[in-house]
Amino acid sequence: MTLTDAIGVRHSVRTYLPETPSDEVLNFVRDFCSRPLDRLPGQHSRAVLIERAVNGKVGTYGMVRNAPCFIALVYTDIDRLSPVSAGMGMEEAVLKLTATGMGTVWLGGTFNKSEISRSVSLADGERVAALIPFGYPAEKENFLSRFMSRMAHSRQRRPFGDLFTVTDDTFTRALELMRLAPSALNKQPWRAVQRGRTIDFFTDGTSDFYPLDLGIGLSHFDLAAPAGRFEVLSPAVPPGLEYYISYTAE
Ligand SMILES: Cc1cc2nc3c(=O)[nH]c(=O)nc-3n(C[C@H](O)[C@H](O)[C@H](O)COP(=O)(O)O)c2cc1C
Repeated sequence: MTLTDAIGVRHSVRTYLPETPSDEVLNFVRDFCSRPLDRLPGQHSRAVLIERAVNGKVGTYGMVRNAPCFIALVYTDIDRLSPVSAGMGMEEAVLKLTATGMGTVWLGGTFNKSEISRSVSLADGERVAALIPFGYPAEKENFLSRFMSRMAHSRQRRPFGDLFTVTDDTFTRALELMRLAPSALNKQPWRAVQRGRTIDFFTDGTSDFYPLDLGIGLSHFDLAAPAGRFEVLSPAVPPGLEYYISYTAE
């Protein structure tokens, strides 16, 4: 399965089989956790594998059932692009896990942050951005999982034209993949406006999770974007939007 295929099948899984993932999967995660995660220069984030068997129970307030393993996403708060960069790096691993048959869910709020902060030994300036449980999906989601999924209208995405303004097809495929990305409470805060070979990325207002959501969306974008580079420019900012970064095709 390609990562683009994985985007099509990924959905949040909150109920797992209790089995430990295969060595192949765990080795992939260990390897991923040992590499630089960032996709934007000058940033520093890291992923930490938490095996429940080793660290005891991880508190997710009943939101997640039976997850055998977790990845904590930690970033150094350097500037406003720090969580964007962390989200980009981590979502790529989420898609790779999806391609191996693992279920995942991004958790931004419903876990015990102080417990996770302790178990990953946060350094000065570091923050825990999210916790991502993973494992084999159970056939049936438990009641709370179904409730959360329904509350967030998880299956729905806003129409392309509500999110993105394009003038030709240069970025259309990449933006279609971005539109399918997960976001906190399924808010889909990503906005983009094309200017020739450049596309400027914004969020629809401010919220603690929006930069992370933007990074997750950008990792989908990156999978189908024409060759080019991310750069911070000074575009006109439409009313109500927050500018973060642009991408220029070669
Ligand atoms: C940054 C982020 C934080 C999230 N936090 C939570 C959370 O705390 N609890 C939860 O149940 N789901 C959480 N979600 C999952 C979203 O609700 C879910 O991704 C969204 O509704 C879209 O559904 P899908 O992932 O099934 O496509 C989070 C997702 C993201 C991207």
